[in-house]
Amino acid sequence: MSPIDRIATFADELTALRRDLHAHPELGFEEVRTAGIVADLLESYGVTVHRGIGGTGVVGVLEGRTGNGRRIGLRADMDALPIEEETNLPYRSTYPGKMHACGHDGHTTMLVGAARYLAETRDFDGTAVFVFQPAEEGRGGARAMLADGLFERFPCDEIYGLHNQPNGPHGAIKLRPGPIMAAADFFDIRVRGRGIHAAQPHRGVDPILIATALAQAMQSIVSRNADPLKSIVLSITQIHAGSAYNIVPESAELAGTIRTFDKELRALASRRIRELAQGYAAAYGAEIEVEIKDVFSVLENAPVQTEAAIEIATELFGADRVEANAAPRMGSEDFADMTLAVPGAYAWLGSNPGPGLHNASYNFDDTVIPIGSAYLARLVERRTAA
Ligand code: NI
Repeated sequence: MSPIDRIATFADELTALRRDLHAHPELGFEEVRTAGIVADLLESYGVTVHRGIGGTGVVGVLEGRTGNGRRIGLRADMDALPIEEETNLPYRSTYPGKMHACGHDGHTTMLVGAARYLAETRDFDGTAVFVFQPAEEGRGGARAMLADGLFERFPCDEIYGLHNQPNGPHGAIKLRPGPIMAAADFFDIRVRGRGIHAAQPHRGVDPILIATALAQAMQSIVSRNADPLKSIVLSITQIHAGSAYNIVPESAELAGTIRTFDKELRALASRRIRELAQGYAAAYGAEIEVEIKDVFSVLENAPVQTEAAIEIATELFGADRVEANAAPRMGSEDFADMTLAVPGAYAWLGSNPGPGLHNASYNFDDTVIPIGSAYLARLVERRTAA
């Protein structure tokens, strides 16, 4: 029986699990309930479970028929987002202000499904390592697991990850060799001026004027400093200042993100933000503090593992369900740090049309669960023997 047919026999149970996780979303490093459910299920299948890896992470280890074979890692993320859900689904979030709006409930479920299938069939030699990571949404869950000795304690020869992608094509596996998702820096800029009565601006230093001028100037990094043949996004996503109609405030804050694929361009963007901030501080007699945090690395798919993933997806789902040269995206994914340590491949799994990721009306498409589980399981069956 093909993995997809066999997994389809318990797809209802997987859907029920997904919906239960959806109703109880937990933010990064708070996935106590989720991790507990995952760990208990893995143990019930006969998987050896290690809890509390990198905070709330869970690692499951499953030996095949013999220990003679390679060690293949599969990774899913477990965290939700700080969004108020706006669906009327019967299993909508029961936690105010938290929502599985990126489908990590689905990813967790697909990996649980793969683990159950592999534990029941054990049609492989070698070892499967199931990595359930916390805090993918910018809170550093992958790095926390790595710092906790993930690959020293649970060595892997290769590692694979998966992310759902609404608006299909349904069931399509999409990936590419080389860079597939961008690096991300998050920045905070604090402009300290001198507050004053709004009717006497000449006696103060207006941080709002400076912050908005700086925000405009920062766009010149993209249009005038970056090599036009290289990709960069610089988005200012927050601006905070003031509390009254008639007070020039003391300070203003800007925050946002930089996305790049190129190391030098990444460094250039940070340097130019600091230079512009310094220049505007001097020009207006203010103080400007800049903090730039490296949050995500570039996600690079290794050539051999990407080729293997394409072959396996083609065998399982047919060539018309595989996009082997998908366009890279400026979004980021902290699975990148795992692939810096161990060669791997990351793919998108197309699902039915609907609101996009991180939207308050988003709903994970349960019909792709058996597809994702089968893909992950088959990677272990094939790659442990490679
Ligand atoms: Ni996500």
